[in-house]
Amino acid sequence: MKKKILSAFLCIALPAVLLSGCAPGGTTEPDSDKTPDSSDKPDESEENQSSAQQDETKTDETASSGEKKKIALSMPEKSSGRWVKDAANMKKALEALDYSVEIQFAENDAKLQEAQIADFIAAESDCIVIAAADAESLVSVSESAKEAGIPVIAYDRLLMDTDAVHYFVSFDNKGVGTAIGKAIAQKAGLEELAEGEYKTIEFFMGSKKDKNARLLYNGLMEVMQPYLDDGRLVCRTERTSFDDTCISDWSSKKAQERCENYLEGYYMDEELDICAAASDGLAYGCIQALQTAGYTDQNWPVISGQDCEALACKYIQEGTQSFSIYKDTRVLAERCTSMVQAAVSGTEAEINDTEQYDNRKLIVPAYLCMPSVVDKDNLEELIIDGGYYTADEIAAASAD
Ligand code: BGC
Repeated sequence: MKKKILSAFLCIALPAVLLSGCAPGGTTEPDSDKTPDSSDKPDESEENQSSAQQDETKTDETASSGEKKKIALSMPEKSSGRWVKDAANMKKALEALDYSVEIQFAENDAKLQEAQIADFIAAESDCIVIAAADAESLVSVSESAKEAGIPVIAYDRLLMDTDAVHYFVSFDNKGVGTAIGKAIAQKAGLEELAEGEYKTIEFFMGSKKDKNARLLYNGLMEVMQPYLDDGRLVCRTERTSFDDTCISDWSSKKAQERCENYLEGYYMDEELDICAAASDGLAYGCIQALQTAGYTDQNWPVISGQDCEALACKYIQEGTQSFSIYKDTRVLAERCTSMVQAAVSGTEAEINDTEQYDNRKLIVPAYLCMPSVVDKDNLEELIIDGGYYTADEIAAASAD
């Protein structure tokens, strides 16, 4: 198979970062998170330089032979509506450019995902897009892809501890956290509290292995910490650190169990006013726990989320979930598609972040799209009129 050196791109030597809106959602430059990630091991790559510049990668020869290029999509799971929608959007965008697309879902099983990716390599895919179930366990299979000359793009979850990743495409994860924090402050009326008044809050954060989860936490705490410090927010469990609040696999069920324990152990004499949940799935767990504990419209807490899944939209309309963070996966798919095109043709994709996504081997060149908050007031305009879901899809969404 004819191979060509992928045209060099240096993640640190990239010239002025190219910035343009992330059509069609209209994105802007995200804030950089320069806060060191405490979970990160020291960077092992001397210069933090992408090894992709030396990689041999597949090129355009299949196009000239008339055969379609094969793009493989490896998604973490199907049980959350978000990844199904991501895959569907990407398939559509890629097929429109005449790629053939294979999709596998790993049901949150790292070993299964590894095997699925190995199959993609064996099938001589031209590019593999990976949203990891476990971001730390795909090192060896990513190396195999690199050895086979197949470019790898990390989709919304950074692949850790490997230099075999060409690009990362995601949303501004720290920005998601600050957006959640600001919306909580506003919906819980934290600025309007009288002297001595406070609201109770508990935190339900994402998987420790997912860098997004920690960035989100950092952004959230930038907004929440001052309120905790001056007593306008009170966390009865005192579990406010990332390590104390992260929930493995972003599991809805584990969030439910944790929330039940908190309610039984700390909120028998006083109500819980705010559940700071880092995703819609985690919010669903809290909602279940609160319903079981007998919370009603009269004392229902502020509950955050992330992803604007159809079920979350339904809950927002009903008032059960206060808001979610809208990450238009059509925008992400479009951006990822440009990266695929660049990777398979040996050109450079547009990126807008060269600082935040250190995977302990290199700082992965990234494009971060901008999220927005969706609540009862703008759901119809952004989600339904914006063509993300129809009103019927939202109405039909159910927890089962
Ligand atoms: C994504 C979130 C998603 C979470 C759980 C994270 O990596 O950034 O959008 O809610 O995974 O699936």
